[in-house]
Amino acid sequence: MALEDTRSNLKKFIVFEGLDGSGTTTQLKRLASRLQGAGIPAFATAEPTSRPEGQLIRRILKGELQADPGTVAFLFAADRHEHLHGTQGILQRLQQGEVVICDRYVLSSLAYQGCTCGASLPSHLNAFFPPPGLSFFFRIDPESAMRRVAQRKELEIYEITEMQCRFAKEYERQVEEKRAAGWRIETIDAKKPIAEIEETIFSLCLAYLAEA
Ligand code: TMP
Repeated sequence: MALEDTRSNLKKFIVFEGLDGSGTTTQLKRLASRLQGAGIPAFATAEPTSRPEGQLIRRILKGELQADPGTVAFLFAADRHEHLHGTQGILQRLQQGEVVICDRYVLSSLAYQGCTCGASLPSHLNAFFPPPGLSFFFRIDPESAMRRVAQRKELEIYEITEMQCRFAKEYERQVEEKRAAGWRIETIDAKKPIAEIEETIFSLCLAYLAEA
């Protein structure tokens, strides 16, 4: 299916974005179960994916494989393309009538790869991907986010406070730019209690989906 044909079908594609440790993964699971509980078919997914392209990226993130930052930008774009267009991918799920909620998408590449390989390549590669209907940007200071991450797992290559500070600035810039280009992006205060954030997101989503 041509990308032009798919844009109108992306209304029910909802994306969570934010620094590592900002809580997107926790909230994604909660939103999926709240939507399902309300009788709304919802499919939760994430990038990098568990597809072969995403598995290769995970090995690079863990430091098991080395790759030039530009290669990493291409890999994220390849994984995203397969995630959108592949079997049981985002577009197919949307066509089946599901709400698709995704942990990370284009803005992650613009923020992270924009800082690690320069803005030009990720900007070009991601120009091919259609905007989600709704995005949530989880805003948090990098120091607090990194404290959370360090408590719970082994660190990946980007999970260094100095890098996250640069990603945070780039995220803010990209969010403004995309909003100006017509993307609908809600900002979430990611330092609020988990249950409060869950309620905020769920009610914003219900209101948004009711407009659909
Ligand atoms: P996760 O921690 O949300 O599973 O994401 C894995 C890491 O990959 C995280 O540090 C953000 C990074 N990432 C990018 O650098 N570019 C991207 O396009 C995506 C989707 C993730």
